[in-house]
Amino acid sequence: MNVFITRVIAPTGLQLLHDAGHQVTEWKEKRELTPEELVQFCKKHDALLSVGPNKINPAFLSECGHLKVIALHAVGFDNVDLAAATRVKIPVSNTPGVLSNATADTAFLLLLAVSRKAFYLHKTINRGEWGFFDPLANLGFELTGKTLGIVGLGKIGLEMAKRCVGAYKMDVIYHNRHRNETAEKELGAQWVSFDELLSGSDVVSVHTALTPETKGMFNSAAFHKMKSSSVFINAARGGIHNEEDLSRALKDGVIWGAGLDVTNPEPMRPGNPLLDMPNVAILPHIGSATIEARSAMAQTAALNIIAGLNGLHLPNIINPEVYK
Ligand code: GLV
Repeated sequence: MNVFITRVIAPTGLQLLHDAGHQVTEWKEKRELTPEELVQFCKKHDALLSVGPNKINPAFLSECGHLKVIALHAVGFDNVDLAAATRVKIPVSNTPGVLSNATADTAFLLLLAVSRKAFYLHKTINRGEWGFFDPLANLGFELTGKTLGIVGLGKIGLEMAKRCVGAYKMDVIYHNRHRNETAEKELGAQWVSFDELLSGSDVVSVHTALTPETKGMFNSAAFHKMKSSSVFINAARGGIHNEEDLSRALKDGVIWGAGLDVTNPEPMRPGNPLLDMPNVAILPHIGSATIEARSAMAQTAALNIIAGLNGLHLPNIINPEVYK
C-alpha cells in the first residue's frame, strides 16, 4: 500500500515500511505543506505518517476519510481533532516513551542554563564583554536541596524529576489529574494543588499536554503566585504559557528566570525581548532531537502504520474509541 510522509525521517522507519512491502512518498521540501497540498497527497495514499504541526482537523478529515491509519511522529497530539478522526473511523497513534529521556534532558539543560545565565553569558563573550573578574558579577544560584514542581508528571516529567533528584537531591512536588505512584514511591514526590505547586516551588517545570484546560494556564495570575526567586521551564508546548505575561513577569522581577524549548508562536521571531534577558534560555523546540530518539520515533510511527495497514490495532493508539 501507499504511505505519505510529510518530512524526510530516520532511515530506520523507512526500512520497516519498505520491508513490509509498502510504497513510500516523502515530502522533501523544507517548508510546511499547505492544508490543500496535504489533502492532495493524502488522497493518493492509504496511510499518513505525519511529522510536524500538520492540522488533522475536520476539514482535512472530511476530505481524507479513506485513510486507514494516521501515525504521528510525535508524542504530543494537540494538532489532531481526535473525536473527528474517530467519527471517520481512522485510528491515530503517537510515539510515547521513546523520546522521554531526550526531552527531559532538554528541560534539565534549560534549568542549568537558566540558573547560571549560561546562554546570555556565552553571548557576552562575542560582544567583547568578558571584562575583569568581579566576584559579585554573573551570579546564578545552586539547585541542591531546592524544590522542583512538576506540572504533568507523566513519562517525561518523571525523567526530569529523576534527573533533579539524582543530581541535586531536589524535593519533588507535582500537580496531575492522576496520582503518579512510581514517582511517589521512588522519588518521594508529593501531589499538591496547582496553587500549592506555584507557591512552593523553586523551579516549576511543565510537562503536560496542550489541551483546552492547560492552554494559557501559565499567565500573569499564575506567575504572581510563584516565588520571585523561581524559574519557569517549559519543554512541553508553547501554548501552555502566555508569552507576553511571561516577558512582563521576568522584566518586573515577578519570577527570576525562564527556560523555554517551546514558544508561542513557533518559530519565535528574532528580536523577541526574551532572547536578550540574562536569566532566560531558549531553544528551538529540540526536545526529542537526538539520534536515538528520532530513530526510535521513526520506527514507532512506521510500526503503527504497518499495523494499521494490516487491519491490526495500533500499538500506540490514542483514540481507542475507534475500535468500539
Ligand atoms: C514534540 O514536540 C512531540 O510532541 O513529540
